[in-house]
Amino acid sequence: MGRERIFITDVSPRDGLQNQAVPVSTADKLELVRRLAAAGVGSVEATSFVSPRAVPQMADAADLLPQIHAALPALRVSALVPNQKGLERALAAGAREVAVVLSATETMNQKNINMGLAQATDVSVATLQQARALGLATRAYVAVAFECPFEGAVPADRVIALAQRMAAAGAQEIVVADTIGAAAPAEAKRRLGALLQALPGHALAVHFHDTRGLGTALAWAALEAGIRRFDASAGGIGGCPFAPGAAGNLATEDLVLLAEGCGFDTGISQTGLLQAVDHAQAVLGRALGGRSSAWLRRQLAR
Ligand code: COA
Ligand code: ZN
Repeated sequence: MGRERIFITDVSPRDGLQNQAVPVSTADKLELVRRLAAAGVGSVEATSFVSPRAVPQMADAADLLPQIHAALPALRVSALVPNQKGLERALAAGAREVAVVLSATETMNQKNINMGLAQATDVSVATLQQARALGLATRAYVAVAFECPFEGAVPADRVIALAQRMAAAGAQEIVVADTIGAAAPAEAKRRLGALLQALPGHALAVHFHDTRGLGTALAWAALEAGIRRFDASAGGIGGCPFAPGAAGNLATEDLVLLAEGCGFDTGISQTGLLQAVDHAQAVLGRALGGRSSAWLRRQLAR
């Protein structure tokens, strides 16, 4: 019997780097993606076509994306686009997959993309429809899907309704994001179960941050609910610059350890991931790694 597959999108080049104070060169971003692919990662979120004033670290998106496609033609590569201008820029750079970002609250949308919830929903719908008409693959984030740093607890029925809007507009994968890492595992299991029921047959992914040390507990809750698609970030780097209190993403190495330990197949090599983490550490000039990294390094050194 083959093991059941878990699909991981490594978001370290986008979510991981967007908030880093150290400017990272395009060549170093490409090297990070190369090492992720060499580790067996099949899907990455490489960059975002956002305002360079809002997120200076992503200003090289139009240079980076074609380099990744040329170097790694088989890799699934997505780029975040907040609006139609972002989609146009992504298209001009040869994007094959784009992700829109809709937050579940009024204030988070204002802070992140300078639009209210209604306008952000309309813009996300229009961007998705246009992307699908152009033949692109699509993801839609529903951000702050559990708790918002400005508005507190987010009602489940609103998250479900927004996810359904995004699916109806053509989002092929819906990414339920705990942007600030504030979800509780039992509630996450309930909410994700309800989302799976509300979107039968639809690809539903989760995106967790490890702010409070519950990243793997949340991933376990998601597995229990029936989720098989995850975002994670090599080395656990990440965080939204516009969401106060957001810490790093669930580390890809921790997620792989959890999933493989539960009998799933991730297709990803831990040794290979550490090579990616080594590169990120060298570039950012500080120690990185998920909660399992020190232990993993000791195992591999034996
Ligand atoms: N990429 C690059 N530039 C963009 C752009 C995009 N996707 N969308 C708009 N702009 C430019 C406009 O052309 C305009 O430029 P100009 O001043 O030279 O004419 C300027 O930005 C302002 O345009 P406007 O539509 O008024 O945008 P805004 O100031 O309301 O900002 C966003 C809206 C969405 C562009 C901005 O808030 C943003 O980039 N947010 C991204 C946040 C993010 O990445 N969060 C982390 C990931 S979730
Ligand atoms: Zn994130």
